Amino acid sequence: MLNPARNVENSRTAQVAASFTALRGAALSFKADPFRVGDEAATRYESDALVLMQGGKVTEFGNFDSLKDRIPSGVEVVHYRDSLILPGFIDIHVHYPQTQIIGAYGKQLIDWLNRYTFVAEQQFSHEGHARDVARFFLGECLRVGTTTSLVYGTVHPVSVDVFFEEAERRNMRMIAGKVLMDRNAPDALMDTAVSGYDDSKKLLEKWHGRGRLSYAITPRFAPTSTPAQLEAAGALWKEFPGVYMQTHLSENQSEVEWVRDLFPERKNYLDVYDHYGLVGKRAVFGHGIHLGENEWQRCYDAGAAIAHCPTSNEFLGSGLFRFDIAKNNARPVRVGLATDLGAGTSFSQLQTMNEAYKIAQLSGFSLSAIQAYYLATRGAAEALYLEDKIGTIAPGFEADLVVLDLRSTPLIDFRMNHCTTLQESLFIQMMMGDDRATRAVYVAGELAYSRGESFG
Ligand code: GUN
Ligand code: ZN
Repeated sequence: MLNPARNVENSRTAQVAASFTALRGAALSFKADPFRVGDEAATRYESDALVLMQGGKVTEFGNFDSLKDRIPSGVEVVHYRDSLILPGFIDIHVHYPQTQIIGAYGKQLIDWLNRYTFVAEQQFSHEGHARDVARFFLGECLRVGTTTSLVYGTVHPVSVDVFFEEAERRNMRMIAGKVLMDRNAPDALMDTAVSGYDDSKKLLEKWHGRGRLSYAITPRFAPTSTPAQLEAAGALWKEFPGVYMQTHLSENQSEVEWVRDLFPERKNYLDVYDHYGLVGKRAVFGHGIHLGENEWQRCYDAGAAIAHCPTSNEFLGSGLFRFDIAKNNARPVRVGLATDLGAGTSFSQLQTMNEAYKIAQLSGFSLSAIQAYYLATRGAAEALYLEDKIGTIAPGFEADLVVLDLRSTPLIDFRMNHCTTLQESLFIQMMMGDDRATRAVYVAGELAYSRGESFG
């Protein structure tokens, strides 16, 4: 017999069920900085977890048996075996227009910029080209489990417009900005102090705070901006202190000498940016390899962050980043992990951790697996002042997750048979894992990538 009351109830249950996503599997989350509090106190590991998500956020996280009664009826649980659920990876320094020049053979920074980068970036005045690359770039981010990035466009405003449009379509938390350059670059890649300011302001007013998007004022680096342009960038940041500021800092010895020649009156490289009001919270400086103690102390005092870009630093022969100095417990600087594509050679934060570990080894510092994963999750979120939103799996946080397959290749599978601890398992993944390890990615609680399936 028909029962209208039961039908209404059924459809309500179905609606509630459709709005929830429930995952089951081993999960690792981060709650503090392991460089400061140690690995154990910095993490939360559940060998059999429930992650319940609704409305783009995590609503429950903990032991599956203890929480399973909270799963609304009708919600199907997706069980990931031999896997690890992690906060989505965060990449805090990357150039999407350089996707097309990854692995371009060359010398060091300045030569590489002139020979490849400045040539490729000229193509981004064309909307169609920029959109194709932005789509490919975001697809690759998902394929490696990266859900948030701090991104450089080119000098062309359209390169940033299309990037934001594509990120918005995927509902990804992304931060990007138009590059500012008014000297020492090809004519086709230069703006002026005034046009750079005006274009950045327009983009910022259009995109910053729209959905999950944020804007970053982006002077490329001191050698390609006149004092007038740096001053304009500082003035803009002062007007909009909630936006980000990204640039390069002390990556290469010749670059440092060049900056000294261009700005002889400044105390050091960081002081150039400081002089123009470009050092503060939500400033993210790429590289920071050849910094003096005064510069480290200033980053710490100002709450500015350094993006460590290991594969890029190796590729361009830039130098060895010093974790022991950066994370000195007396003044621990915010550090996040970054790919710096296209000088970086992999989208994968697992591969980036691999190289970060080896670089640390070369200066006598053994980076723990927990420290490495932290740098690509909560540590990166702290660098961006987003640690209340992403980088951690907990109720109230945005539901950006990566599910790693812990047996993604025959070799890793074989190796895992001889693995006994979480630390060891994490370390094996970061030494040998790559995009093949990404089993699934959730963006704001929705399945955005699943290995073997195609996503638009
Ligand atoms: N310094 C200034 N611009 C760049 C860039 O595009 N890549 C890298 N690695 N360093 C830079
Ligand atoms: Zn860079």
